[in-house]
Amino acid sequence: MPRKIAVFGAGYIGLVTGACFADLGHQVVVRDIVPEKVAALNAGEVPIYEPGLSEVIARNAERLRFTLDADEAAAGAEAVFVCVDTPPTASGDADLSRVWAVVEALKNAVHLKALVVKSTVPTGTGVKIRAYLDEAGLGHVGYASNPEFTAEGRAVEDFLRPDRIVIGAFDDASAALVAEIHEGIDGPVLRMDVPSAETVKLTANALLATKISFANEVANLCEATGADVERVMAAVGADHRLGAHFLKAGLGWGGSCFPKDSVALKQLAANSGYPFQLLNAVIEVNDLQRRRAVNRLKEELGGLSGKTVALLGLTFKARTDDMREAPSTVIAARLLAEGATVRCWDPMARLPRQEPWMLTTRHDTPLDAVTGAEAAMIVTEWPELREVPWEKARATMTGSVLLDGRNVLDPEAMAAAGFTYLSVGRATTRP
Ligand code: UGA
Repeated sequence: MPRKIAVFGAGYIGLVTGACFADLGHQVVVRDIVPEKVAALNAGEVPIYEPGLSEVIARNAERLRFTLDADEAAAGAEAVFVCVDTPPTASGDADLSRVWAVVEALKNAVHLKALVVKSTVPTGTGVKIRAYLDEAGLGHVGYASNPEFTAEGRAVEDFLRPDRIVIGAFDDASAALVAEIHEGIDGPVLRMDVPSAETVKLTANALLATKISFANEVANLCEATGADVERVMAAVGADHRLGAHFLKAGLGWGGSCFPKDSVALKQLAANSGYPFQLLNAVIEVNDLQRRRAVNRLKEELGGLSGKTVALLGLTFKARTDDMREAPSTVIAARLLAEGATVRCWDPMARLPRQEPWMLTTRHDTPLDAVTGAEAAMIVTEWPELREVPWEKARATMTGSVLLDGRNVLDPEAMAAAGFTYLSVGRATTRP
């Protein structure tokens, strides 16, 4: 049955949630506090790049509205989905001020049936919000935790065909309402208590990050022992108990979720009196992985001072414009600190207007970026990089070092193109 839904927050999660709920037939109002964003959305422009999202928004225009006004969004809504961001505070804990601002904005919404939190929050948040609602005379408004598992770049697909829908609630009616709102989505519903639902999200991201850090440590070991990490992980991942996903070695994980959520879980554990040792190592391995790439380049070039290095790909992963916690930022800053000149290329990155990016030059093609460079580093696995005429690229460079931080290219082919080719967890090949 079509429901009236309000979504608070028009970021990656809120927009995808709002658009996909409208696609299921619900009437949706999305509220955000940034006037330019709401104006753009009302003018039919989607302010972020997410494959398929513009199409879903366009085809549901009749069921989807955008507003700055919290009261207008909440008026008439049966359920409010909270999709605001929870960035890290100075202490690494999650900053819940935006979540609380939404909860407070709803204190007159006596007609609401359920408040549903999709934002990633530390375990215990729901219990506190429940107590606040009870005290504010909103004891009849249900509360549910409904964490989101979509990945950027495939969020619409993930939302409509999830591995699971997790619903944590204090009462059956709220859980049933949230489950009903998801009807039409092809995925199993897992119902549980609120603290468990909150913990599922943090644990899933931490375990995925652990798999990647593990693969990166194996890669570093392979470099020292002569094994090939691609072959090792393909065979290891063929064990159905381990699974083939998130075992790709590279320059480490970035983005808006893994870095923030792994630190949030670490701090949640520490605040609870339990030091999560394994997670500390997972984070440390990730920090070192990008620095290690710069050190390898430095060793190969005999120092970085006065050298020109081209960075190919800057976003935290391919098929997104998102630069949050991208390994490229640390790599560019380290190269500049070592005295190198940095040229870069990315087809989509929205570069922040701050250091290190204001000290680099951006070029339109990979070929332009590598021109005159002593070395190039592939930082993001953009498919375009497979199509670069590498022999020609080598000829425009003043040096021959290519570090492939994502194992995109073939070592033998790169040696044949004239490169000293370094990759992650595989033997270096030379011309
Ligand atoms: C991640 C999770 O995959 C989603 O399930 C979750 O909902 C989301 O965080 C969130 O919490 O909102 P996302 O950050 O969009 O999604 O990106 P991923 O595709 O998971 O990639 C994360 C990072 O890991 C990227 O930097 C990627 O390059 C890196 N990665 C991924 C590897 O280095 N190796 C791999 O094998 C996989």
